[in-house]
Amino acid sequence: MTAIALVTADACVEDDLDMPPLLEACRIQSIDVEVCAWDDPRVDWSQYGAVVLRSPWDYVDRIAQFLAWCDHVSAVSELFNPLAAVRWSLDKHYLLDLADRGIPVVPTRFIEPAHAPAAAVIDFLADFPQAADFVIKPAIGCYSRGIQRFARHQTDAAIDHIAHLASNNASVVLQPYLPAIDKTGETNLVFFDGVYSHAICKSALLGQDGAVNVPTYDYRSPREADAAERTVATAALEAARSHLGLRRPLLYARVDLIRGHDNTPRLLELEIAEPSLSLPLTDKGATRFAQSLDRLVMVNQGA
Ligand SMILES: Nc1ncnc2c1ncn2[C@@H]1O[C@H](COP(=O)(O)OP(=O)(O)O)[C@@H](O)[C@H]1O
Ligand SMILES: [Mg+2]
Repeated sequence: MTAIALVTADACVEDDLDMPPLLEACRIQSIDVEVCAWDDPRVDWSQYGAVVLRSPWDYVDRIAQFLAWCDHVSAVSELFNPLAAVRWSLDKHYLLDLADRGIPVVPTRFIEPAHAPAAAVIDFLADFPQAADFVIKPAIGCYSRGIQRFARHQTDAAIDHIAHLASNNASVVLQPYLPAIDKTGETNLVFFDGVYSHAICKSALLGQDGAVNVPTYDYRSPREADAAERTVATAALEAARSHLGLRRPLLYARVDLIRGHDNTPRLLELEIAEPSLSLPLTDKGATRFAQSLDRLVMVNQGA
């Protein structure tokens, strides 16, 4: 097989701390990879046997262009994860599909552009009397963009924030703030080919004072996921695979869980488009990812 493209962006390659250990693991295992920027017009994507999304993170302000690029790559090569998985997972509405399949997700309501924000917030707070605080975020977003935490008495500020997010026709997510995150953080479980590799603890990013932090390595530490977390994460990946009708497990996936009021793990996010995998915090993660890329080579060669 021809080389595998590892996709980044010029503006993001320095922030991609997974890339150096992954490249080193590929070098050790003699896997032919090349790092490419998704928006580099000089790249002929058809020359790659597989095109693997890693850190094209500057697409957030030009999603339509990025998705058109994904369409093109899928047509001329093999995109990983597959196009359907990328498209589906970029919009947090996927949480509803997973809830329908029995996955315990963080309680989630959507406010669509046609909905009146004030009524939606009042209904939400009535339905979640236990929630001292709540969270508002855009349905399409990442890296804490557009997210805000409010106390339940801050309804006016919350409605303003929803109106701000909805001003360009965006859907908005409402969730109770799950306070367990302040004690135990969230657990991010990383899988390659559907097999658990490693996990990290990510400490809480949203302050009571309205501070919104981004998940730099200062907020991450290694953690072993427990049996309950692995069970929920594995079920979420199976549900995603079945929803998307995928033949193979996802090449890579990150499953983010927070404990609910009953202390059981609940799905916050399924990151299957271009997740940061915290490879520098684990011994074996990069090796396992490279082994999965190697299996890809063998499958493509019909081995
Ligand atoms: N319902 C929630 N309860 C507690 N913390 C939350 C909740 N939703 C989001 N957060 C915090 O905000 C961060 C970013 O939210 P997330 O849903 O992961 O969106 P994204 O990563 O796509 O911006 C999380 O890592 C977590 O710290
Ligand atoms: Mg997140």
